[in-house]
Amino acid sequence: MGDLGGLRRRLPYLADLGVDAVWITPWYPSPMADGGYDVADYRDIDPRFGTLADADALLAEAHALGLRVIVDLVANHTSEQHPWFAAALAAGPGSPERERYFFRDGRAGGAEPPNDWVSAFGGGAWTRVTEPDGHPGQWYLHLFAPQQPDLDWSTPQVADEFDAILRFWFDRGIDGVRVDAAPAMAKAPGLPDAGHAPGAAFESRNWVGNPHWDVDAVHDILRRWRRIGDSYGGDRLFVTEAVVNGPERLSRYVRPDEMHTTFNFDYLTSPWDAAALRQVVDSTLAALEPVGAPATWVFSSHDETRHVTRFGRAWTGAAFGGAALPASETDLELGLRRARAAALLTLALPGSAYVYQGEELGLPEVEDLPEEALQDPTWERSGRTVRGRDGCRVPLPWEGDRPPFGFTTGAATWLPQPAGWARLTAAAQHDDPGSTLSLYRAALRLRRRLRGTGMSWRDAPEGVLAFDRGPRFRCVVNLAAEPVDLAGQGEVLLASGPCGAELPADTAVWLAPGG
Ligand code: NOJ
Repeated sequence: MGDLGGLRRRLPYLADLGVDAVWITPWYPSPMADGGYDVADYRDIDPRFGTLADADALLAEAHALGLRVIVDLVANHTSEQHPWFAAALAAGPGSPERERYFFRDGRAGGAEPPNDWVSAFGGGAWTRVTEPDGHPGQWYLHLFAPQQPDLDWSTPQVADEFDAILRFWFDRGIDGVRVDAAPAMAKAPGLPDAGHAPGAAFESRNWVGNPHWDVDAVHDILRRWRRIGDSYGGDRLFVTEAVVNGPERLSRYVRPDEMHTTFNFDYLTSPWDAAALRQVVDSTLAALEPVGAPATWVFSSHDETRHVTRFGRAWTGAAFGGAALPASETDLELGLRRARAAALLTLALPGSAYVYQGEELGLPEVEDLPEEALQDPTWERSGRTVRGRDGCRVPLPWEGDRPPFGFTTGAATWLPQPAGWARLTAAAQHDDPGSTLSLYRAALRLRRRLRGTGMSWRDAPEGVLAFDRGPRFRCVVNLAAEPVDLAGQGEVLLASGPCGAELPADTAVWLAPGG
């Protein structure tokens, strides 16, 4: 969390980094019960971030630097402070105002929730309201926090409103939209029980035929939005967040008349293991090929433990949403070596790649935030057992030798930065050819020459991934314990760590074959 003034000031940094676009998480007025994913007004900017005029200036300045801007659309739910929800509470049962959300009578005479659905942040997905007459009354649905009531997309006014919101932002000049929680937007008619066991976790990647996730009617909404995006011409991009059951279900979100791209959680959550990663790459490309959609690749996000930290643990995979992982020691030196190799893998794959802010600096997860600083609703909803996602959201260090490292002119950032980040600042890394920032800058530049080339795997020893992109580019990633011989593979273009005739463990290299 920063502000639009700060973001504008750092746009040249992003252009210099070499990215094509910037995705901004929700910037709308919000009580911030879930990092802005609880929107109170979809047509304005939260005052703590700036104004609509700042957003316009940001768009103009980004475009002048050749950067596109993607904004986040949170359409499954509003904030409890959205005027529609206030009106629904005030209007009472049976009112048209309540039809924009899911208000239902409880079971067992009203005392029990209407069904067994669960919240992504732990616990049940229903909260009971006090009616205007002061008595306990109906329940409303929230697949996330209670401060995020779900909208009922079968109510025409909801769909019409979001058409208008999309047009509002396309008219202002945004280049694309990231669709939050896309699989949540449709629910099975009648809201039947899901059959969840008591205390069930929110494990949407395992759900098949679930009544509150990945229900087919969601695709009607996506088709409607695609028509609006297309009506603006140019390269307007949609990317969905869809944590669903396997690549085939995921491919439905990117059929030709739906979204252009979708995040790839199988890759994000994969362990640092050659066979597992190859399997994810193959199944992703195979599932997307029939619908003609490009793949996307990402290892970190604002919802996930940073991969420098994950890759330094015994269990290197991830559990989406900051769930508790088996405790183990973290070797950050090993994690960073692997994360640098992972950068060369990710940026060599065909399709789009996402870099999560600070990843290019090699930032680790901040695992020792004081409890009183924690903001993620997961913390309270899990009875203070799951710390949640704050450790990856700590503002990045720009310059200087102590917090707030140039991020703010105030005394401190909203989540405190570790003092040890002095050696990781963008300023400290900028002119160091061996820094992680320099590696990302070089890779993002070289990557441009890969456009339009497919990939083909090469035979490689166990634990090694090797593939070509056309005749003049090869990527070799060594995930095995032993070094691998590079003789005859070509001239080194870029390496994630020291490498000569042999590629050491947990190191990746880009080569020009025949060079
Ligand atoms: C996904 C977002 O990435 C996450 O940060 C948020 O908590 C949920 N959707 C709910 O909007």
